Formats: sequence, C-alpha cells, structure tokens
Amino acid sequence: MTSPSVETWATDERGPASQPGFRWSSPSRAILARPGLAAAGDFLRLGANESPLAPIPEVAERMAAAYLGVNRYPDISATALRDVLSHQQGVRADQLLIGNGSSELIHVLTSAFGGLGSEIVVSLPTFSLYAGSVGYTEAKLVSVPVSSDGTTDLNAILAAVNEQTSLVFVCNPNNPTGGYLPLSNVRDFLRATPAHVVVALDEAYWELTDAFAAGEPSASALCEEFPNLVILRTFSKFYGLAGLRIGYLIAHDESMVARLASVRPMAMPTTVGLAGALACVEHHAHYRIRAKEAARERARVVNSVRDLGYEVFDTQTNFYCIPFAPGDEPFTKAGIHVRAGHTIQMPGYIRVSLGTPADNDRAIAVLSQSVQAGRGAEDASERRGHA
Ligand SMILES: Cc1ncc(COP(=O)(O)O)c(C=O)c1O
Repeated sequence: MTSPSVETWATDERGPASQPGFRWSSPSRAILARPGLAAAGDFLRLGANESPLAPIPEVAERMAAAYLGVNRYPDISATALRDVLSHQQGVRADQLLIGNGSSELIHVLTSAFGGLGSEIVVSLPTFSLYAGSVGYTEAKLVSVPVSSDGTTDLNAILAAVNEQTSLVFVCNPNNPTGGYLPLSNVRDFLRATPAHVVVALDEAYWELTDAFAAGEPSASALCEEFPNLVILRTFSKFYGLAGLRIGYLIAHDESMVARLASVRPMAMPTTVGLAGALACVEHHAHYRIRAKEAARERARVVNSVRDLGYEVFDTQTNFYCIPFAPGDEPFTKAGIHVRAGHTIQMPGYIRVSLGTPADNDRAIAVLSQSVQAGRGAEDASERRGHA
C-alpha cells in the first residue's frame, strides 16, 4: 500500500470546540531561531503551500506599472478583474466577489451564515481557518472525519446536515491531505444537499489538479444550477501572488454576492493585487504550461517519497502529506520549514509543500536520511503492519 489511511485523528464526535483565530504557517522569527537552524545554510519555506516561482515577467511588469498609481485608491468594485474572470469562468461579472485573499471571503461567509442557533459543518482534518472563523460567530461548529483516503467525506457531511445547518465547507482538493473529488461527486452532493444549506466549495488548489492541467471543466458551471453554491478561489497558490492577498468567490447570482458584501468589514483588494491578478488571467496560456509542469513534478516527488518506503496520500495540490513520527525536527535541522502534523489536526504526520525540483530534492534527502537512521519510513511500515 502506498497511500496511508486516515485513522489517528478520525473521530465521529462532534467538535472540537472552535477557537477564534488562525495561525499562519509562515517561518516566523521563533522558527528561524530554533537551535541548529543557524548552521543549516539557506532557509527553505515548504510549510505554507506557496508557489516557489516568481510571477512571469508580463505579470511582474503590470504590477510594477500599477505601483506608480498607488497614490489613488483602488477600484473597490474590481470591475476590470471581474470582467476578465467572468469570461474565463463562464459566469456573469455580478456573480463574482473579489476578496483580500480567499481567507477574507471565508470570514465573510461565516459572518453571513453564522448566526445564533445555526450550525456550520466541516470535515476534519481540513483548512483550519474554517473552524477559526466559525469561532468568531455564534454558530456551532460540527465536524465529521474525512474519508480514509484523505478526501472530504461528502456522505458524512450530508448525514451531519440538519435544519439548523446554514453552511458547510467542502475543501477540494483537501488541505492538508491533498485528496481530490471529481466534479461528478460534487454535483451529486449538491443535488442531495437541502436548499437552505449554503455549500462553500473551496478550490484554492484547483489549478494544480490533473483535471485542470488536462483542460477539464471546472465547478464554476455548477453555480448556474445550484443557488446555494459558492466557490472560493485564490491567486495565492498556483498563480503565486500570496503576498498580494487576492482571491475571489463565484456565486449563483448577485443577491448572494450582495448578502455577503453587506457583512463585509472595510477590506478591499489593493491596486497592485488587482493588476497582478488581472495580468495572470490575461496570460493564462503561460500558466497552463506551469500547471502541466507542476503536475509532472508532483508525480516525480510522490513516487520518490513512496520509493523510500513512505506512505503518501494521493495529492492533487502543491503539497504532500505523510506519516512521519519524528515531526518537523529533522527538517528544521536541515533548514526546511514544513508543517508539523500536530498543528494541522494530524499528529504523527507532516505536510510538505512542493517547491522547485531542487527544493523538493532537499526535502527528499531529509526523508532519505531519516530512513537510513531508522526513523520515519519505519514508522510507516509499522502502520502498514497494523492495517
Ligand atoms: C484550502 C485553502 N483555502 C484558502 C486558503 C487561503 O488562501 P488565501 O491566500 O487566498 O487567503 C488556503 C491557504 O493556505 C487554503 O489552503
């Protein structure tokens, strides 16, 4: 078996109690100050699922030009960006809401639908901002375990839905496991979901899936059919604009967009962010080449890690997740920031973002050394023995 199965954190209990807030996994000063790191040479960020690649020159030039206009406020209605996105996604511009990263839009959704007496369903482990955002509301957080292959368990979500349920989050592909459910599964789920439940389909990693690389249709088309569907996308991951904080939401119609906009605090995209995102969409053909390269490199890395004896969840993202008992310490010693499992509801695992081929080889070398030292993969084979 080359894929692990979810067991250690699976629980059918309701909970955990949501905690307001969220800790970004950036290599903070505290991480950089860890013993041993100073000796490790250049520090490598493989903990926040960022793109290792700078924007293509055409995008960088547009952002540089936009800088010269920052004495003016941005176009808060993001007209030009919504226009090009509406063509790209096959939706109307009034179905689109541009956010300060999709994180802001997640907060907007929980604020809009997290009233007293309501319930919001998530599948664990998943992106922890959902629970963090619910913690700011009066809604009850209801959690169900993900499927054993690391994909969101849509049937378990349906079973948890009741009259009080106002919102469910479906992270597809799922962070931190990487599992992806095809469009047909999502469509079946939406057909079975009661109309009073808003489904937030978070596709932060959509452009990294094999389906996207192969030019398959995206979930955008489903917004026409399902008034309760909202899709979340971001320019942070595949397009590599994480530092600009820009993402978007696709809804069925302008009434949903207006409802969400009405609970929005004073947040707006920046002039440079708007220009960068616009240029990414306009130069989409270049990025499609990147999508194919990213899918190839992911397959190479996952195969290499499996060849070392590790179990790797099937992933359609820019990260992989493996059982790894030593935690992030061997990586930290090697100057690499990866995401330790206990911080992402997966104790005994690590999540490693994909970087350049050279970055990935550096991470594989740490995993290989751990095998030689009798750690890491040994734990994986022990798990296999128990399975
Ligand atoms: C599933 C998922 N959704 C949303 C986000 C937030 O992305 P953004 O940078 O657009 O706020 C992340 C970031 O890690 C993510 O993993």
